[in-house]
Amino acid sequence: MVVPVVTIDGPGGVGKGTLALKLSQKLGWHLLDSGAIYRAYAIFALNQELDLENEDLLVAKIPEFSMTVNIEAEKVQIYVCNENVTSRLRLEITGSSASIIAKHPKIREALFHYQRDRAVSPGLIADGRDMGTVVFPEASLKIFLTASAEVRAERRYKELICAGESVNIAQILGEIQMRDERDQNRSVSPLVPAHDAVIIDTSDSTRDEVFNQVWQLVIDRELIKA
Ligand code: DC
Repeated sequence: MVVPVVTIDGPGGVGKGTLALKLSQKLGWHLLDSGAIYRAYAIFALNQELDLENEDLLVAKIPEFSMTVNIEAEKVQIYVCNENVTSRLRLEITGSSASIIAKHPKIREALFHYQRDRAVSPGLIADGRDMGTVVFPEASLKIFLTASAEVRAERRYKELICAGESVNIAQILGEIQMRDERDQNRSVSPLVPAHDAVIIDTSDSTRDEVFNQVWQLVIDRELIKA
């Protein structure tokens, strides 16, 4: 039986995670947050003070790496080599380090099969940068979300202010632009829409509007019975 896969790609801060989680809950399908894997490996590398530019060293250390996802008190907890790293996973230093290690072809190759193996019945929602282009080119539905760097910076700024952090919007915008530049211009699996992806600009839409648009596509492609 062919397991249906929906891919959701796009740049950082565009709302992929929220959309992917909601879709997986509504469909009752598995969820692959591929960025979390790159982030977890970045934490592992930072803990060991590895040179993030040294591809061969990073690859040689893979057998020492382990990542576990647990649900504890109804919350997702991420462990890297038995250390709970949940509070570090979403930090900017983790995201930018993940983006650096993600440009190495041998690292991407090592993670390729791990990601493909997540496609099990009844279906998978895969969130990342190259889910529709490289990892699941046969996906039943490919979504590519976009929004300008300014819009994404403003959303992130508001989230951090609400969380009580003191932040500078110009710095957030600079970090987003640097990460976009690295993710779009790397030699392997760069961030580009698949030729058959549906591109949705989320700049002027609410999360619910984006979800409803994607849900209609799920129905149109007969991924569920309407
Ligand atoms: O989606 P995210 O912000 O959690 O991803 C962190 C970094 O990991 C991102 O800047 C680039 C890298 N990444 C990737 O190269 N390929 C993926 N499929 C997912 C993430």
